[in-house]
Amino acid sequence: MILRRVHPAGAAEEVALDTDGAGARDRLLEWYAPGEGESIRLNLVTTLDGRVTGDDGTSGSLTAGADRMILGVIREHADVILVGASTVRAESYRLPRATPLAIVTSSGDLTGHGFEPREGAPEVLVLAPESATDAVRRSLGGIRHRILPLPDRGEPATAPEIVGALRAHGAGRIVCEGGPGLAGLLLAEGLVDDVCLTTVPRLGGSGIRLLADDGPAVSRWEPRQLLLDDEGVHYARWARRAD
Ligand SMILES: NC(=O)c1ccc[n+]([C@@H]2O[C@H](COP(=O)([O-])OP(=O)(O)OC[C@H]3O[C@@H](n4cnc5c(N)ncnc54)[C@H](OP(=O)(O)O)[C@@H]3O)[C@@H](O)[C@H]2O)c1
Repeated sequence: MILRRVHPAGAAEEVALDTDGAGARDRLLEWYAPGEGESIRLNLVTTLDGRVTGDDGTSGSLTAGADRMILGVIREHADVILVGASTVRAESYRLPRATPLAIVTSSGDLTGHGFEPREGAPEVLVLAPESATDAVRRSLGGIRHRILPLPDRGEPATAPEIVGALRAHGAGRIVCEGGPGLAGLLLAEGLVDDVCLTTVPRLGGSGIRLLADDGPAVSRWEPRQLLLDDEGVHYARWARRAD
């Protein structure tokens, strides 16, 4: 598959990338390198009209083109992958190959996950209040995990509390892979530096929306990069505007 870098523009041989060619992954690693220091990145896939699930209720049926390869590259740049518990349940989420997975939950119920015990896999980090730890243990069974405690106030943790727990664990570069609820929470607090958004050329359906109607207030972003593949999928990087 040929991926074209439309923005920023460069010499023709620099902007067309054969994803099956030698060195393709290294080039993508360069294109997706985060800035220096700690960062929070969102990585999501959407339709043209902003839906994040196909009719089967998962993002798996939206993923197309080079999305999986780019997902792997973005994961490689991260210290931790953060997801909401509904995503784990709805998508039968599988363990990433090398980057640790962190799940945020109030209930502790991770039933429906698709994790399989694997020799040498990093432990799963579960951000949960003390009252949810039994449910976490029950639903994770033999999967190696560590609880990162959240305040037990009987209400959801704040975004700074979630990020603070990951940072205290040593995770500087965080990539959040959704779902919309968790992504919206991080955006509402102005904590997101970089958005990687894959847009598939589909419109309509009954899938859920990227951001709720009463989601975060309007914020301004500037394009850092735009790739387009020969299936019409585009892959954008947006950076938060400083003003
Ligand atoms: N297209 C994409 O890129 C993409 C990516 C990811 C997911 N998805 C789709 O999005 C859907 C799920 O998204 P969603 O927005 O409904 O849910 P979500 O953000 O994945 O998860 C929400 C859940 O996470 C936990 N949580 C979130 N914020 C929390 C907080 N502040 N404190 C404590 N726990 C917190 C809670 O878990 P408990 O209920 O356990 O307390 C909450 O119910 C699925 O259909 C999935 O397929 C699409």
